[in-house]
Amino acid sequence: MRLVLVGPPGAGKGTQAEIIAERLGVPKISTGDIFRANVSGGTPLGLKAKQYMDAGDLVPDEVTNDMVADRLAQDDAKDGFLLDGYPRNTEQAKVLDRVLEAAGTTLDLALELTASDDEVVRRLSGRRVSKSTGKIYHLEFDPPADPESDDLYQRTDDKPETVKNRLKVYAEQTAPLIGHYEAQGKLVRIDAIGEVAEVTERALAAIGAAA
Ligand code: AP5
Ligand code: ZN
Repeated sequence: MRLVLVGPPGAGKGTQAEIIAERLGVPKISTGDIFRANVSGGTPLGLKAKQYMDAGDLVPDEVTNDMVADRLAQDDAKDGFLLDGYPRNTEQAKVLDRVLEAAGTTLDLALELTASDDEVVRRLSGRRVSKSTGKIYHLEFDPPADPESDDLYQRTDDKPETVKNRLKVYAEQTAPLIGHYEAQGKLVRIDAIGEVAEVTERALAAIGAAA
């Protein structure tokens, strides 16, 4: 299966991508995770991306599109993948369509995770991530064993002012790409409110129905 996950910051894309990719046996490709790894590694790509991420803006398309095309060309993505956080605007969606077409294939489904602004703000304000495993927690909704552990960190873009801009960027630049997938008959909306496992079941049911 070749899938993309779309949804506002904090809707649970990373949480669901991890579980669904494992269940389907395809690699999870998260552009946010790749950028964050490059920022912490101090690579040239990370240096380019950091200022945009810190502001909650999109990293420029020319940087992002090449990075994703390279990742999709790797062997483990040949038979399927789950993209988390890409595409993020209609231009990226068109580039992805062309990259897949050139490889003789196409996307199966775009899953849109829906949640209100109030809910995503609650989710982002309590998010903590494990440095060692990358696992995503929430202090209230999915608490880590030791909330004070040095292994946990809070993302720098989860500050309230940055979250506000990320929501604005989502509404202005990312939400329009939903229409792109609707027009292709590939969009499925998934209600992202409820327990993590319930949301996973909704997504897997939609994927199963399309398979
Ligand atoms: P990215 O990392 O993609 O961030 P985002 O889209 O803002 O999404 P988040 O990671 O914040 O949220 P999520 O939906 O993954 O939620 P999560 O599962 O963590 O991008 C970061 C930045 O990188 C961008 O701002 C941009 O600068 C750059 N970038 C990335 N991709 C790009 C691209 N394609 N083009 C240009 N720039 C790009 O869950 C959130 C919290 O909720 C957690 O605490 C979790 O435990 C909790 N939670 C999850 N599910 C539930 C549930 N069902 N109930 C209760 N709590 C839940
Ligand atoms: Zn994420």
